[in-house]
Amino acid sequence: MAYNDLRMDNQWLPFTPNRSFQKDPRIFVAADGMHFTTHDGRQVIDGISSLWCVGAGHNRKPINEAIKKQLDTLDYSTAFSVSNDKAFRAAEMIAAMAPGDLNKVLFCNSGSEAADTSMKVALAYHRARGEGHRNMFIGRERGYHGVGFGGMSVGGIPANRKVYGTSLLPRVDHLRFIHDPVKHAYVHNTEPVWDEDILLELENRILPLHDPSNIAAVIVEPVAGSAGWYVPPQGYLKRLREICDKHGILLIFDEVITGFGRLGTAFASDYYGVQPDMLNFAKAVTNGVFPLGGVVCTDRIYNAMMGAHGNAPEHAIEFFHGYTYSGHPVACAAAIATLDLFREEDLFKRAGEMGPVLGDAMHAALKGLPNVIGIRSLGLAAAVELAPIAGLPGKRAFDVFMDCYHHGVLVRNAGENLVFAPPYIVERAQIDTMVGTLADAIKRAA
Ligand SMILES: Cc1ncc(COP(=O)(O)O)c(C=O)c1O
Repeated sequence: MAYNDLRMDNQWLPFTPNRSFQKDPRIFVAADGMHFTTHDGRQVIDGISSLWCVGAGHNRKPINEAIKKQLDTLDYSTAFSVSNDKAFRAAEMIAAMAPGDLNKVLFCNSGSEAADTSMKVALAYHRARGEGHRNMFIGRERGYHGVGFGGMSVGGIPANRKVYGTSLLPRVDHLRFIHDPVKHAYVHNTEPVWDEDILLELENRILPLHDPSNIAAVIVEPVAGSAGWYVPPQGYLKRLREICDKHGILLIFDEVITGFGRLGTAFASDYYGVQPDMLNFAKAVTNGVFPLGGVVCTDRIYNAMMGAHGNAPEHAIEFFHGYTYSGHPVACAAAIATLDLFREEDLFKRAGEMGPVLGDAMHAALKGLPNVIGIRSLGLAAAVELAPIAGLPGKRAFDVFMDCYHHGVLVRNAGENLVFAPPYIVERAQIDTMVGTLADAIKRAA
């Protein structure tokens, strides 16, 4: 198929420079295992699991078969006041994987919806306990929690926020970012050890300013993914947990990227040994093949929400929230098959094993190349940061992304970063190809 076999007048592409895309379209028509087939018949390695989704690789038959079977059995049913068998089974499996008493799954369809859902749960939970004044949120600079108004407000990526002004939620503050580009430019499968405690700012400035009794929740990505794979300082998440506990503040982990194996464990929460009060997930839960997201809440939150309505008649709804497609049977059938496949093929373990292979390759091949100012690897993901071109933020990384694409490798450009997060089935030789292609492109962009 040639470019001009498709009319490209009607699709407005998301998070994409549309004008440049029109001049040099990148269109996939098939995928299998680690590779895409392009419209012009070329093979491209999926170096980013199609944005952190496709952990098990593309075109996995057990998932495809489960979807087909579900379509022929129960295609769809409404989610309100009735439900379906697959939604209960998927929730049971996710709750069994989630740490501690994270047992109650609220389904939605995406990471953005998960962010807004978790924020609404936080407000409703505090109100149910008679603390409705807790209505403020704390996010983190350069955090990404999707594109809903809640997620955008607690998010901290400037370009995503700048045109929305006063439409963002008013009562939000942000923790400082977790990266020191001088002392910790190079992070190689370790947790950086800082000589300062960057959470003192939360304790000494942010909480006193707003008064801790007004804060509903803190929301963070355990590892800052969308910004370009930034790893938290050693002990950071444990200390954040302690501070939240001390002040009755809920802690929400946005595990939309880190959930389901990326760090070699089911969740980053397991990797760091810190349990949040709510855990947001999406993406890899269905291997990306069908939209599904959700929020796993503790029993404590659920019970408070049920108990608060002690005087209400049993027909009364406890939480006025949900989506037409919450717990969609086809999405949940995909999730069940995906989670079974992850377990049968021990794919989280494999991600944990291949992580250092990717990290080693990135540090060995890219350190010292022109314009490389940092490399960070943890789990099966790694980023290289390039010096920006003055006056043209993101241009160098975009050029490298394009060059890699034309040489058969899909890498993610995020600001000045190029990020790899391949499917867990990736082979060593494919990592060599990906990193070698990236190295060549960085040299050409110098
Ligand atoms: C941490 C995090 N939260 C939320 C989202 C938003 O997810 P979605 O694009 O499915 O709405 C993303 C997407 O990349 C993400 O990385």
